Amino acid sequence: MSHPRDQHPFIRHQLDSRFSFQSDNGVDNNGDVSGVELDAVHRAVAREPWYHQTLSIVVVGASGDLAKKKTYPSLLNLFEDNLLPEYTVIWGYARSVKTHQQLRDHLFPHLIQTGASEIVVKDFLAKCFYHSGKSYGDEAAYAEMIASIQQFESQSPSPTCNRLFYLAIPPNVFGDSAVAIKQVGMAIGNGSWTRVIIEKPFGRDLETCNELLETLAAELTEDQMYRIDHYLGKEVVQNLLMFRFGNSCWEHMWNRNVIESVTLSFKEPFGTEGRGGYFDNFGIIRDILQNHLLQVLSVVAMEPPLGDDGDSIRNAKLAVLNKMDPISLDDVMLGQYDGYSDDPTIENKDTNCPTYAAIRCWIHTPRWEGVPFLMQAGKALDEKLCEVRVRFKPPTTLKSIGANNATKLCSNELVFRLQPNPSLELHNNIKTPGLPSNPMASIMKMNYEEMPNLSNPDAYTRLLLDVLRGKQGSFVRDDELRRSWELFSPLLHSIERDNIRPKPYVYGSKGPADRHRWFDEMGKSQDPLATASATHPIRASL
Ligand code: BG6
Repeated sequence: MSHPRDQHPFIRHQLDSRFSFQSDNGVDNNGDVSGVELDAVHRAVAREPWYHQTLSIVVVGASGDLAKKKTYPSLLNLFEDNLLPEYTVIWGYARSVKTHQQLRDHLFPHLIQTGASEIVVKDFLAKCFYHSGKSYGDEAAYAEMIASIQQFESQSPSPTCNRLFYLAIPPNVFGDSAVAIKQVGMAIGNGSWTRVIIEKPFGRDLETCNELLETLAAELTEDQMYRIDHYLGKEVVQNLLMFRFGNSCWEHMWNRNVIESVTLSFKEPFGTEGRGGYFDNFGIIRDILQNHLLQVLSVVAMEPPLGDDGDSIRNAKLAVLNKMDPISLDDVMLGQYDGYSDDPTIENKDTNCPTYAAIRCWIHTPRWEGVPFLMQAGKALDEKLCEVRVRFKPPTTLKSIGANNATKLCSNELVFRLQPNPSLELHNNIKTPGLPSNPMASIMKMNYEEMPNLSNPDAYTRLLLDVLRGKQGSFVRDDELRRSWELFSPLLHSIERDNIRPKPYVYGSKGPADRHRWFDEMGKSQDPLATASATHPIRASL
């Protein structure tokens, strides 16, 4: 079988999270990382057994939004880059009755939008089949589909046949689907594996999350479960480990002695746009803060993991969450954009659902004690943006540059911009060039999009490859998930119980009007020794 890269020599996607300006043998390739890095991935993948075995993928919820926008396009990316095993079949399962061809016609316009050529899309679709059932737990229908999969497996050369189920369905039917998979769908024998991918919302609070976890744990083991938080698959987030632990300068500075505050921001320039029915039941805290931003925060703040395996990374992230207090209502600002409830899909026109939230939290470790971590997320704001801003403490050496407290210096900041235009920025003060000697703000920038021949793969593509490779480090473990709900559930309950009214803000603005005051107040670092000496006066021990 000729693979798509033979037909299409121009590789559109890079799948290695290591951006390097040097090839493997140390020869400078002038920043052209295209062939070198993808080949490094191919070489690694080619050494792994799964790549030479048979693979059956089942997309449960194949006719839904997630499947057509993310799941199938990501599978296509992997196929195009020759990163799926040669013997791969992809079954779609849903409730609507469709032929194989109808599914292919439904997917085609979305797949062609990825930029793949028509030949590649058609080759890919030839591997896609469809089966319908009465429900997502219809065991008889699953059994019929699995019978076709078994037939495919029996004709393939490898005795080891792996199965991957992608549950692109609402969480209330995860359980039914997992039961059906357990009953009739598991791969059997010859060292084969079965893996299941699911995606948020994982409950509405700690209690509902626990129910969901228990339902799924009754059918599947933790190492079979891959809980996607797609923010963990974004390039700049994947780079955090390398950046923090691969550069000695940053590790020395990554602590409360040097860092004043850390702010994580998520902004979207559009409102709920027809998703109001879902959103009004969840709100921005459950939609973005409790998962995406908290996950990123735990990678920014974690101690060096003991290794690069999935459990070491997740242990280090969990340790951060365990050192945080549940978020207090005193540390929160809520907002709702004007006209939010005009969305026809929102039933409660007097809804208090927050579409904007800013939160302060503390991490009680020697590294971070006293450093405020601020997170803000909002819909219908002025721009699309997601970034992490690490702000360093002001210099104490003003005299030596002829400056004083009135001199305007920019804050030293290190910015990790996830989107748009993924980049890393370091904000410095330099002397104004030329005769003046006053300070001027300057930014040292590393812009991913300026790297020659480099395009950033979709987070889902990267994560799907990780699932196939059995790498769980970028997926959320059950204990992390529980802890994240422990941190947020009391806050969510008090907001709902006390019917807290969010502050209004104008659609397309930067958020509630008094947010500057809030950030100035909340962004101040605290001296933990001040509290310590209050409780243990030094004089008493003299
Ligand atoms: C989803 C949220 O998890 O992430 C959406 O439910 C949000 O409300 C989306 O729009 C943002 O993802 P991205 O990758 O576009 O930043």
